[in-house]
Amino acid sequence: MQEIIRQLDEKRAAARLGGGERRIQSQHAKGKLTARERLEVLLDEGSFEEWDMFVEHRCHDFGMAEQSTPGDGVITGFGTIDSRPVFVFSQDFTVFGGSLSEAHAEKICKVMDQAMKVGAPVIGLNDSGGARIQEGVASLGGYAEVFQRNVLASGVIPQVSMIMGPCAGGAVYSPSMTDFIFMVRDTSYMFVTGPEVVKTVTHEEVTHEQLGGASTHSTRSGVADAAFDNDIEALLMLRRFVGFLPSSNRERAPLRATEDPVERAEISLDTLVPANPNRPYDMKELIEKIVDEGEFFELQPEYAGNIVIGLARMDGHTVGIVANQPMVLAGCLDIASSIKAARFVRFCDCFNIPIVTFVDVPGFLPGTAQEYGGIIKHGAKLLFAYAEATVPKVTVITRKAYGGAYDVMSSKHLRGDANFAWPSAEIAVMGPKGAVEIIFRQDAGDPEKIAARTEEYRRKFANPFVAAQRGYIDDVIMPRHTRARICRSLAMLRTKQVANPWKKHGNIPL
Ligand code: HXC
Repeated sequence: MQEIIRQLDEKRAAARLGGGERRIQSQHAKGKLTARERLEVLLDEGSFEEWDMFVEHRCHDFGMAEQSTPGDGVITGFGTIDSRPVFVFSQDFTVFGGSLSEAHAEKICKVMDQAMKVGAPVIGLNDSGGARIQEGVASLGGYAEVFQRNVLASGVIPQVSMIMGPCAGGAVYSPSMTDFIFMVRDTSYMFVTGPEVVKTVTHEEVTHEQLGGASTHSTRSGVADAAFDNDIEALLMLRRFVGFLPSSNRERAPLRATEDPVERAEISLDTLVPANPNRPYDMKELIEKIVDEGEFFELQPEYAGNIVIGLARMDGHTVGIVANQPMVLAGCLDIASSIKAARFVRFCDCFNIPIVTFVDVPGFLPGTAQEYGGIIKHGAKLLFAYAEATVPKVTVITRKAYGGAYDVMSSKHLRGDANFAWPSAEIAVMGPKGAVEIIFRQDAGDPEKIAARTEEYRRKFANPFVAAQRGYIDDVIMPRHTRARICRSLAMLRTKQVANPWKKHGNIPL
């Protein structure tokens, strides 16, 4: 017995040491924490229950039989964040570069399967050189087992990926099928083919960072939902982020008590929208003034800035915020912003998170780049997402709601539950100037007539009342009361029940 206990201690010590002191130092020298240190920051103190610490690879080729580390390059198990259970895997770069063997994949699959059974999120901390080269196809099979589970878990439990080192080749496709990807600046990168292959095939010369670093994916590709400066910041933000999420699609997000009164009037909002309809204002100011304690966890803040998405709370309950941003491209919808918002709307709908939409949209962005790029299909993603969503939907039109974009942005016609407009709202087929230029083309040479017609159009349509007369708007509200009106509507909607017709799944225009 004593001998077994001694062996247990030895094995645990070996597993904890991973790839050894030298490699741990090299990890630290790169500014990275080790896989275990990361879990300590992420999880509530002392809450981590490790599984499969003694699992080893089964490869005998290329001298692998002599090289084995208990745990095989990934630390798996469960713990808690703010006392709520989460399942985790944290790849250990000090063991074969965190590469994925068959056994390593089996460990990840085990926690994913268990997370599905109990209904708890899976968080992956990725730091891996990809498929374990010595294992060949066994490793590829391992990846596919993980991919399959990613897909089955999608919409059932939240899946979050934090990229904290390399993530290359087919390995990127597991994170890409999770709900959110976060990255750490300077130490993480993701790409399907690395700089060497790119150089051979396309003769382009790029660095790892340029090709797939955090800044690339958070500003250009939209692959990453946020980028953080270092491991500690990333993990603390991840803890905060998880606090917004329900544990599964069977639950609601946790309620967080707030001191912020539901009825808080925000007088400054009455003057937020400038008198000149062509002048921008910052939609984020509105969001921060309305949500609990001004806390807004924005996602993809540096990508497709013409739409703002993120999580916040209202009266303690998590809400998803979607808002046009007049400061960027005048708030037009384009390909990138439609895709960005559509995926977020679908996430909220999967996980019982009500959607609050702020609308100031002059329409879809015109141009050949957009048309050739398929704005018809991509814009339809957002329309489809809002139309199929059955969670509570509260919409506030602050200024422009023109054309098809009016319909798309959670309008009454797409089963918006509570649709409000500020007095500054303009709900019409298009802006007065464009409208007059088309319907009074014969008066084009007469500026006076055009000005008079434009004014007439503005008076008739550039206001919220035409829509309100038809009941498309439930009420025209004072901006200062926006928080109270949204909170009350959300409280009323807490028992909302709507089901879409039975189907295997819809066919969203991908
Ligand atoms: C086995 C690996 C490995 C791998 C790294 N190592 N990647 N071992 N399989 N895929 C080992 C190294 O041999 C080294 O061992 C240790 O990990 C650290 O690697 P270094 O190269 O010293 O680290 P660094 O300089 O930081 O470079 C990291 C790296 C590089 C850029 C990730 O290691 C690399 O290019 N690795 C190969 C990446 C790759 O081609 N993977 C397969 C992709 S295809 P020692 O003993 O020296 O510490 C793929 C397909 C997936 O993944 C398909 C899914 C469908």
